Amino acid sequence: MDPILEQIGPAACRSYLVACPRAREAVVIDALAEDVPATLARLERGGLRLVAAIDTHTHADHLSGGAALAAATGGTYALHEATECATVRDRLRDGQVVEAGDVRLEILHTPGHTPDSASIRCGRLLFTGDFLFLAQDGAGRLDLPGSDAGVHWDSLQRLASLGGESVVLPGHDYEGFGASTLDEERRRNPRFQDLSRVEYVAWQRAIAMQTPDWMLAVIAANLGTAAEHASHHADHGAKSSAAADIAGLSQACPPGGGGACQAGPMGRVPTIFIDEAARRVGRVAADRPFLLDVREPHEFSGPRGRHAPGAVLVPLAQLPHRLDALPDDLSAEILVICKSGGRSARAAEFLIESGRRRVFNIAGGTDAWAGAGLPVER
Ligand SMILES: [Fe+2]
Repeated sequence: MDPILEQIGPAACRSYLVACPRAREAVVIDALAEDVPATLARLERGGLRLVAAIDTHTHADHLSGGAALAAATGGTYALHEATECATVRDRLRDGQVVEAGDVRLEILHTPGHTPDSASIRCGRLLFTGDFLFLAQDGAGRLDLPGSDAGVHWDSLQRLASLGGESVVLPGHDYEGFGASTLDEERRRNPRFQDLSRVEYVAWQRAIAMQTPDWMLAVIAANLGTAAEHASHHADHGAKSSAAADIAGLSQACPPGGGGACQAGPMGRVPTIFIDEAARRVGRVAADRPFLLDVREPHEFSGPRGRHAPGAVLVPLAQLPHRLDALPDDLSAEILVICKSGGRSARAAEFLIESGRRRVFNIAGGTDAWAGAGLPVER
């Protein structure tokens, strides 16, 4: 008998109810504090007993309702054992199985976004939290306290052993992609581009943002250490206290945080900077990447045009009809350049969606190329 599966809350910030229809036992994954009353009502309406509220990781963008749900129902509150959460009751190990009647939920430790990030496998269902999002949303940001891009890359490799038909159920779906499978994500999600660990870490380092203060306050609240966090702020003379930050967090995914757990715009495609692009373009011919310039012809050549030597011009608008201008091999390395990095990012996104496996956007574009004193042709 298939488990009961319901999404609770809005698409941007997803939590899930999974239950056994025979035993009437349930697990809630990534409960939001604001949804606790509605979730309790749903459990009661369905005659469901909560076995466990499990968080896939310590959340930075919303207040967890896990501990409150557990306290109200007699269930347990659980996270992966790497958590520093003071209120957690069960510390889950990699490979451990949580049972709710006939429903079996296997814990897979998939760190990187946070040290305590875990995915949960339930038959064909794969709850990924912020370890993996859908399509261009990529995956959770890797610049939080405790984030580690290399470890995230390791976790992505671990998914290789899972069946491609697994249904990916993420903790956020910022763009409303809906449901997806692991095979679909391997094809279109930029985090599955064919990158080495070193390339992946360099990309994430290049796009790292500073963790907003309100997120640090939310993490502290979810860890049960908000008081310490507040005194830390007081010690450092911060203008806004953690308590004020949390008070302002009236709902999940707060203003400015619509994609709060997501990396910034350059997180949507693998990105390299000019020095690395020049190094790759300078390789011997057999190893040289295909350099694709997606600007307009007058920008590329002529009196006011210029381009990096060896670049092949295919304007962005023509790209969908001119794929024959690219190497036949879908694994061939392609560097995409434009004026400053905007159009090339869109082109790179399109190429990844088209099945290309090794695509890099050049941040800063031809302006940065010329500005660095690298040769140009007209
Ligand atoms: Fe997160």
